Amino acid sequence: MNGTGAATAPILSVDGLVVRYGAAIALEDVSLEVGRGEMVALIGANGAGKTTLLNTLSGILTPSAGTIRCAGRLAHVPEGRELFFDLCVDDNLRLGAWKASSRDPARIYELFPKLRDLSRRKAGYLSGGEQQMVAIGRALMAGPDVLAIDELSQGLAPIVVQEIGRYLVRLNAETGLSVLLVEQNARLALELCARAYVLETGRVATHGPSALLRDEPAVRSAYLGGHVTT
Ligand SMILES: Nc1ncnc2c1ncn2[C@@H]1O[C@H](COP(=O)(O)OP(=O)(O)OP(=O)(O)O)[C@@H](O)[C@H]1O
Ligand SMILES: [Mg+2]
Repeated sequence: MNGTGAATAPILSVDGLVVRYGAAIALEDVSLEVGRGEMVALIGANGAGKTTLLNTLSGILTPSAGTIRCAGRLAHVPEGRELFFDLCVDDNLRLGAWKASSRDPARIYELFPKLRDLSRRKAGYLSGGEQQMVAIGRALMAGPDVLAIDELSQGLAPIVVQEIGRYLVRLNAETGLSVLLVEQNARLALELCARAYVLETGRVATHGPSALLRDEPAVRSAYLGGHVTT
């Protein structure tokens, strides 16, 4: 099979995940898979639990039940990017490397040529789109097998999001990097990713190939601006 991740063992698999904040349940029995080389979207309204899921995958939060198996390295592009604003682009990128021998950001500058010219500029003086490229670049410095991105489009103009989206698709095609993309802009997420999960108040409401989800009335009315007459 192609594009579903079903043919080989998934690179990331989450089973029956439960995450609580004190007494409040933020994720309830969440299961999902990302296949090797697959781009998977996670969409859902504010407060659905998307950030909670990514923070749990990267070990920031501890689940109270369930399992997470990752057959490789996962890198996380956090919500709000969390760059070091007083450090230059180059230093922000170098901080993403997990060992000294892989601290050369040259390959990140190949992917995002714009960043090469900005390499000495403080991250706090970059545009939102440039900051997002640094955040993605920093995560890539860890040499991940899976890239988990929280809110790619947050605060960015649509044209900038399209540009960064194209970089991701190219990276996925050229290197086989798997991507789990958390995105409130469902239209964009379904465009970029072959498959998607819809999270509603801490549960997976539906999942499947993006092309099918796009036509699901519930997904259309909740996330794609209602019924679209074709
Ligand atoms: N530190 C926390 N303490 C208590 N509750 C929290 C905490 N962080 C998140 N929550 C709650 O957990 C639920 C899921 O939040 P989460 O941030 O994961 O949602 P989200 O899908 O990422 O939303 P958004 O689209 O706004 O980023 C929400 O009800 C939120 O209020
Ligand atoms: Mg969030």
